[in-house]
Amino acid sequence: MHDDVEQVRTRIDIVDLVGERVQLKRSGSSWRGLCPFHTEKTPSFHVNPQRGRYTCFGCQATGDVFDWVMRTENVDFRGALEILAARAGITLSKKSGPSSDNVERILDALEFAAKHFQRELLRNPLALHYAHSRGLDETTIGAWEIGFAPEDAESLPAALKSGGIRLEDAAAGGLLSGSPSEGYLPFFRGRLMFPIRNDKGRVVAFGARAFGNDEPKYLNSRDTIVFNKSQTLYGLHLAKKPLMGLRSIVITEGYLDVIACHRSGIETAVAPLGTAMNERHVEAIRRWADRVTLLYDSDSAGRKAARRANALLSPAGLQVRLGVLPIGADPDSLFSSQGAVALREVVDAAVSPLRFEVVALRQELGESSEDFWKEAKSVLASSNDILERDQLIAELAATHSNARFGLQAAIDALRKEVESLTPSRKRKQSQIDSNDSLIELPAAAERMVLRSALRTELREEAIEALADDGLIVTLPGIELKSALLSVLDTQPELDAGEILQSIPEESRSMFASMERPSEGPVTEQALKESIQRLRREREIRLKKAALERSMSDEDLVEYFRLKGRS
Ligand code: UTP
Ligand code: MN
Repeated sequence: MHDDVEQVRTRIDIVDLVGERVQLKRSGSSWRGLCPFHTEKTPSFHVNPQRGRYTCFGCQATGDVFDWVMRTENVDFRGALEILAARAGITLSKKSGPSSDNVERILDALEFAAKHFQRELLRNPLALHYAHSRGLDETTIGAWEIGFAPEDAESLPAALKSGGIRLEDAAAGGLLSGSPSEGYLPFFRGRLMFPIRNDKGRVVAFGARAFGNDEPKYLNSRDTIVFNKSQTLYGLHLAKKPLMGLRSIVITEGYLDVIACHRSGIETAVAPLGTAMNERHVEAIRRWADRVTLLYDSDSAGRKAARRANALLSPAGLQVRLGVLPIGADPDSLFSSQGAVALREVVDAAVSPLRFEVVALRQELGESSEDFWKEAKSVLASSNDILERDQLIAELAATHSNARFGLQAAIDALRKEVESLTPSRKRKQSQIDSNDSLIELPAAAERMVLRSALRTELREEAIEALADDGLIVTLPGIELKSALLSVLDTQPELDAGEILQSIPEESRSMFASMERPSEGPVTEQALKESIQRLRREREIRLKKAALERSMSDEDLVEYFRLKGRS
């Protein structure tokens, strides 16, 4: 137990942990932000990574990573230990789990191998030539620690031995295959090596590119006790600091795409590792960002993957935009052929999921084909965003051959067709949720949280829930939430009456109709239950979306078949 505690303490970065809930800015050797435990306008909350502690000079709150989790998650010490151990990928000891010594030795072996591969690249003209042919200059090779794993089966084991690294540890880190009795062989041979660092900056795995047309094109480390492929994001160790301020992440498909983005000044770019996006990625992304720009390859596999990613990210409360690359391009190829400005422009011009569908269809089917119009109409009909839909209808109608008889007539005709295809289930979520009211009100649990935010004694907890993305989902709920947050942001100490005076008329009357006797009293208990319920509902939404939209196995096979061909 004592070992577990110390191991968790060394593996958890307190700045990362606190940074998920509090926006922190560096100030000298520590980090500073607005205290989450009391309301304040000027930051007096400090996090000191050296000491591993947070301290608020305003309200005297202070503690380490365990105290932080106990306070923010409402759990006891054991609960905090479990949460943090899971986060650090540590199995708590029933004596069977990996000991911290073991983990450290494996991480050392991986770090050592990364250095070895880097030296090998600089010594090997053919490998260096390949790197240069991929547009990787010396600065980039250095910054991303790119290396080369020689064909020679002896090179890595010999280097490990002379560095005092045990081969068992290198094997446990996925660098060697074989066993002590049969002997070990390097897992990666004759490939360009991309070290994968986790968010704490430790090398946990490698991605390896074949030079020619060898299969597979990329080989990734197998999962090990320090590496889980389906929740790791390449580039996060460099992206995380800019993400703390921006909370806007760019996601690409490949290693070289991430690198091209960073070289273009898009420093919050990351990529999943040769796997389609899954819920574990979504959770990781939610920790770091509120907005996501998907920058996937402009081929049919990439578009399919982008759709899937959006189908997971949007329901999780993330605001999703999609970058549209020229047909056949990926971020790396665009950067190589057109340069940094061109790539930045694609990111800046990223579009909503609905517009992306229309643009993608046009790219795939051609603007004048019957199929394009048929597909575009059904995509538009399925949208819930009437405003954007109408905007797109107007733009599309202008390109239709009918427009020569008059633009307005073409718009009207197209809208009518789209409406005839629109499913009648177009009732707003809020009407389904709120039982008996004529005015559209937020859902019941949302109402409790919103009303609690008006009371000073429950405000902290309520505001935290309101600020938690994807918890409030009905349109009226979102409207009230943003009205409240924008007032409380600058004047956190207002009482209920003053708040109501400061929000728009419409929001005020919505609050008034939420104060009916049938609503029940606002209590701490009721608030806690409502928050729990909203969290559960978010969980269910996430799961459902993943289930409904997730690719079938055949789809995935097709995806990698297309990938392999490109
Ligand atoms: P791509 O086929 O788009 O490769 O796969 P790429 O990144 O553009 O690479 P280059 O430019 O051809 O070298 C995108 C990502 O999918 C994973 C890798 O992470 C790759 O970067 N992938 C692809 C694999 O894991 N294995 C493969 O065989 C192919
Ligand atoms: Mn690609």
